[in-house]
Amino acid sequence: MRAVVDAEKCIGCGLCVQIAPDIYQMDGDIAVSIVNNISEKQLEDAENAAAQCPVEAITVA
Ligand code: F3S
Repeated sequence: MRAVVDAEKCIGCGLCVQIAPDIYQMDGDIAVSIVNNISEKQLEDAENAAAQCPVEAITVA
């Protein structure tokens, strides 16, 4: 499983970083996923952040 932040959509609100800092970090004005392989333990946080992103910029698949 991977989380991917769409750089075109992300408005840099930072919510995903607050929810799951071990998965998402800010890179300048946008968030990036810092994990190549999301563990089962991280999946809930990764999906929660994706669900709460105001512009639906995150895909977890
Ligand atoms: Fe960007 Fe959404 Fe995170 S706007 S900073 S991907 S919550």
